Amino acid sequence: MRRYLITGASRGIGRAIAEKLAAPDVVLLLHGRDTVALADVCKCVEPRCARVVRLIHDLAVASGISDLIAAVGNHPLDLLVNNAGIAIVKPFGEITPTEWEQTLGVNVTAPFTLTQHFAPNMPPGSSIVNILSIAAKTAFANWSAYCMSKFALEGFSQSVREELRDRKIRVINVYPAATNTNIWNSIEGEWPRERMISPEEVAGAVAYALSRPNNVALENITLSSLTGNL
Ligand SMILES: NC(=O)c1ccc[n+]([C@@H]2O[C@H](COP(=O)([O-])OP(=O)(O)OC[C@H]3O[C@@H](n4cnc5c(N)ncnc54)[C@H](OP(=O)(O)O)[C@@H]3O)[C@@H](O)[C@H]2O)c1
Repeated sequence: MRRYLITGASRGIGRAIAEKLAAPDVVLLLHGRDTVALADVCKCVEPRCARVVRLIHDLAVASGISDLIAAVGNHPLDLLVNNAGIAIVKPFGEITPTEWEQTLGVNVTAPFTLTQHFAPNMPPGSSIVNILSIAAKTAFANWSAYCMSKFALEGFSQSVREELRDRKIRVINVYPAATNTNIWNSIEGEWPRERMISPEEVAGAVAYALSRPNNVALENITLSSLTGNL
């Protein structure tokens, strides 16, 4: 039985990845904060996988990250998907200390700590998928905290990949352009949803990378919209 942990699986890209990777020989460990939304995802994937474990933890705080680690337990993971993320979008002078701490906690400290904890026990042939963003490589006005967090995760992911290469653990970094999810609901402004890619497309790219033979690493995947990025 394979064990897959997906953070931020209650909606959006994380949910689409969970739905895509559900299989009879897979135990899905699905994390989120919203109990109702996560229950809905679990109900949807349960008939298609061996077992589903619901994990409700706030990754913005250290205790939430350590509680998640304790709940996952010691049995090795075959896949860790670092997907949970938040976007605070405003001029950098207006970002509050709390918003900054939350951005750093969810987008940087959580993937760092989860990778540091789980990677040592992951077997050869296992994978770590990091959902970054085109904002991990390109800067945008008013996205300073988000870009800083994703640039940080980019540096971490690239370094970890080299450290895990000899152990045959693949680190797959995914860089989606604007994707039509709820993350945009709380971002001020008019955002043309019809020009965004779908979370299912991102999940399809993840599944394709994972489906490659164990000795092949599809290491960096950028998804853009041909209707023009925002
Ligand atoms: N949408 C885009 O345009 C886009 C583009 C490039 C990259 N990304 C990246 O893709 C990833 C998923 O984003 P999405 O678009 O699918 O967003 P989304 O629909 O808003 O989903 C975000 C997920 O992260 C979880 N999350 C947020 N804050 C959390 C916290 N404090 N503790 C624990 N979990 C938390 C949410 O859980 P609850 O809802 O249960 O609280 C939810 O499951 C993020 O890393 C994002 O940066 C998104």
